[in-house]
Amino acid sequence: MAPPLIEARNISKRFGALQALSDVNLEIRAGEVLALLGDNGAGKSTFIKVLSGAHPATGGEILIDGQAAVFASPQDAAEAGIATIFQELALSENLSIAENVFLGRELTRRVLGVPFLRRRDMKRKVAGLLAELEAHISDAEAPVGSLSGGQRQAVAICRALNLDARLVIMDEPTAALAVAETRKVLQLVRRLADSGRAVVLISHNMHDVFEVADRIAVFRRGRKIAERDRAATDPEEIVSFITGAHPDVRALEMRP
Ligand SMILES: Nc1ncnc2c1ncn2[C@@H]1O[C@H](COP(=O)(O)OP(=O)(O)OP(=O)(O)O)[C@@H](O)[C@H]1O
Ligand SMILES: [Mg+2]
Repeated sequence: MAPPLIEARNISKRFGALQALSDVNLEIRAGEVLALLGDNGAGKSTFIKVLSGAHPATGGEILIDGQAAVFASPQDAAEAGIATIFQELALSENLSIAENVFLGRELTRRVLGVPFLRRRDMKRKVAGLLAELEAHISDAEAPVGSLSGGQRQAVAICRALNLDARLVIMDEPTAALAVAETRKVLQLVRRLADSGRAVVLISHNMHDVFEVADRIAVFRRGRKIAERDRAATDPEEIVSFITGAHPDVRALEMRP
């Protein structure tokens, strides 16, 4: 069998005296949506920050296609095909959709040594990405400031696609969205996975998770304490892992 796209082995992260992650082992496969759940402070964001090169791990290793990878920065991770969409999105309101998608990596052509932006090419590429996502945004030149929350998520996803991401990580993408927009973003998430990419989705919304995830991993106090196929579990069991009421968690936490 082919190795998983990404494998985290014994990942630990310490902030001073605080052990934010302890020995996390997790595989992420192409074509799947893996949901990370857990209470506030459980270590979810820290874990994806390690995956995306934003924080160095204190221990453990990350393998891509079975090969050890070291990320000194988010750029390193992006080059390896890992794109992270943080909750804040980091879009520039006054720039157009196309400009946001290409921000920092604009296409240029040189005429007599002077670089010119290839606006038409960028616009065409972005229009293609928006169409692939079925985002229902007709004008790639519209300013991002005029878009709804769900449409902004779509632009952030386009930026990830434009990096040729093989893994797209999303931290709470629907937290601030209304019902209809949440629906749209969940459809985008599903479409990314169905196109062969891997998606890691952090969410506190059990309903969203059960709608879109193939697999669910639960974090608690810096440890991954459970992993289930969606079809083999239910919200009640997952909640019992999150809160620690599940007998397996109690047994684990009784140990010295
Ligand atoms: N940069 C940092 N410096 C020090 N401590 C940190 C830092 N980032 C996170 N922590 C701590 O690490 C622990 C895990 O935090 P993390 O943000 O990963 O939790 P989370 O599961 O994402 O929670 P939430 O659901 O609230 O977003 C917390 O105790 C947090 O205070
Ligand atoms: Mg978090």
